[in-house]
Amino acid sequence: MRTPIIAGNWKMNKTPAEAKALVAELKPLVADAKATVVVCVPAVDIYAVKEEIAGSNIHLGAQNVHFKESGAYTGELSAAMLKEAGVEYVIIGHSERRQYFGETDATVNLRTLAAVKAGLIPIICVGERKEEREAGYTNALVEYQTLIALNGLTDDEIKNLVIAYEPVWAIGTGLTATDEQANETIGVIRAAICRKYGKEVADAVRIQYGGSMNPKNVKGLMAQPEIDGGLIGGASLKAPDFSLVVNFDK
Ligand code: PGA
Repeated sequence: MRTPIIAGNWKMNKTPAEAKALVAELKPLVADAKATVVVCVPAVDIYAVKEEIAGSNIHLGAQNVHFKESGAYTGELSAAMLKEAGVEYVIIGHSERRQYFGETDATVNLRTLAAVKAGLIPIICVGERKEEREAGYTNALVEYQTLIALNGLTDDEIKNLVIAYEPVWAIGTGLTATDEQANETIGVIRAAICRKYGKEVADAVRIQYGGSMNPKNVKGLMAQPEIDGGLIGGASLKAPDFSLVVNFDK
């Protein structure tokens, strides 16, 4: 059985002081969660959040990582820097990175390799845009995005990472994929991993749904057999809302 994983993606929200206050409020609300709880915070918040969550069941995540070990890449952060700062998880290939910052499937793969090499756990985002779904390309696209991202990893490395299926049309829009749509597409991703890496790997890898997941729709989504958790944007910015998502099983 896969342990559910609920991760907040704060995006470009919360100063260090606000971040500290948010996790301080969150800690007691999620203390007995069965799911793995992660907050993916802006880089400047890492230190404050790490201090505040010490000794709790909340895990620390970042929102991006560069693929080079060091060098003349102004504004970027290496996997080793994040690791040493106490980060455990890192979002890679979020659709906002792909859409606004020119990230491609090839760089998503390089970032994934760099993250794994440094001992970080990637949360790799894949998902189709509205016009791609309407044209019938969803399955082919998510298979392709997933398999390219994983290229060059060992079976054990793949078993340990997380994939987030996030239909782009559902992010920040209030539109959610139906429970069945999300389950079906995540099933397609798992089947592609199974074909290439075998059943043991496919059964182990955790695949989240993301896109306007909230306290109201989380139960239905999490009741689906293929959905192992959520990557939560808007609803992760308030401790009571996020804790209701984390405690979906209560
Ligand atoms: P949302 O964002 O929950 O605000 O739709 C999800 C995400 O982008 O990861």
